[in-house]
Amino acid sequence: MADQLAQWSEMQGGLTCTYFSPAHKAVAEQLRDWMRMAGLEASIDAIGNVVGRYASTAPSARTLIVGSHYDTVANAGRYDGRLGILTAIVVAESLALTRTQLPFHLEVIGFSEEEGVRFSAPYIGSSAVAGHFNAALLRRSDSKGISLGAVLHEHSVDLSMIEKLARRPQSLRGYLEVHIEQGPRLLERDLPVGIVTSIAGVVRFRITIDGVAGHAGTVPMALRHDAAAAAAEIVLAVERRCAATEGLVGTVGQLDVPHGLINVIPGRCEFSLDIRSSDDAIRDQAIADIRTAIDEITARRGVTAAIAEIARHPAVPCAPAMQAAFAAAVARAGITPFHLPSGAGHDADQFAGVTDIGMLFVRCGNGGISHNPREAVTADDADVGARVLRDAIMNLN
Ligand code: GLV
Ligand code: MN
Ligand code: MN
Repeated sequence: MADQLAQWSEMQGGLTCTYFSPAHKAVAEQLRDWMRMAGLEASIDAIGNVVGRYASTAPSARTLIVGSHYDTVANAGRYDGRLGILTAIVVAESLALTRTQLPFHLEVIGFSEEEGVRFSAPYIGSSAVAGHFNAALLRRSDSKGISLGAVLHEHSVDLSMIEKLARRPQSLRGYLEVHIEQGPRLLERDLPVGIVTSIAGVVRFRITIDGVAGHAGTVPMALRHDAAAAAAEIVLAVERRCAATEGLVGTVGQLDVPHGLINVIPGRCEFSLDIRSSDDAIRDQAIADIRTAIDEITARRGVTAAIAEIARHPAVPCAPAMQAAFAAAVARAGITPFHLPSGAGHDADQFAGVTDIGMLFVRCGNGGISHNPREAVTADDADVGARVLRDAIMNLN
């Protein structure tokens, strides 16, 4: 199924599927059709989430959401996000085929946006359902200058429709998500699945360094105010600071010299910074230290830095009860329950504080690589993930 979904892409020879592109819409329709074939009542909501419902006959039943995202990063793997949706669909199908009654409604949701690629804003789909969609995001623009608000307007969607997608916390039984680990720890321990303890917090910045553009042939090295050279020194300072603390990671994933030319000293350099830890205090101390380093580097080089914080998500724990539910199901499958934190962000993050969240990681092959076309999962491991999810759901009350 993941291979089938990968046929819809915005690039030749690889998988890119960003918010509301033609590929994205085709994937949504395929997921909706598969949900219907699985026996769910399914539709695509205003913000592009694909929602499939397996209703309970229990009066006053609450809803258990099982979801993940179907958008991707650029040149992505086939399983990041999608594995969780597909696993949930096959589990729901199995429950429907066996006419299993649950004491809660089960909703499988394929969230439309988690990666934040198109609008530099993650969780567009899940934040709406969790009830804290940030209306300021409507003014964010993509690389072509088209705002999220304009894209939604074109689809006759307004803020009030997005706000209506929010679930009442009291109506929810919980939120579960299966996801590939995107790292090597399960692989190292020879385990097909693991139970997630927490999701790392992340703070993101856009940083602009302004120096002085000049002639590459005539300005002596000592007289330069090279914005890109300053940025390079900052990248290394980030790397040094983050490498010094266990569990802290920092990444400059975008780095640009606008209008850069081979014979011009860079007058401006723009870059992104993403810093994460499962401990918010450790992360914030690193940010303070990096700001000090940026002050020192820019002052010494005679350039300036404008630092804009564009996202802040605190670290969130998975609910002990949901960790226990997954751990018990893992043990019943004859596998040693192994607990691990998530360094990646997930839609589950948006439901923390709204309802009990739980996550199950499935082993990632090829050394644990992800956000890369070499991302891999075996069918056997996906099968274990689905069986454990089904068992955990059937034993929740
Ligand atoms: C999403 O994949 C993220 O953690 O950035
Ligand atoms: Mn991802
Ligand atoms: Mn993901």
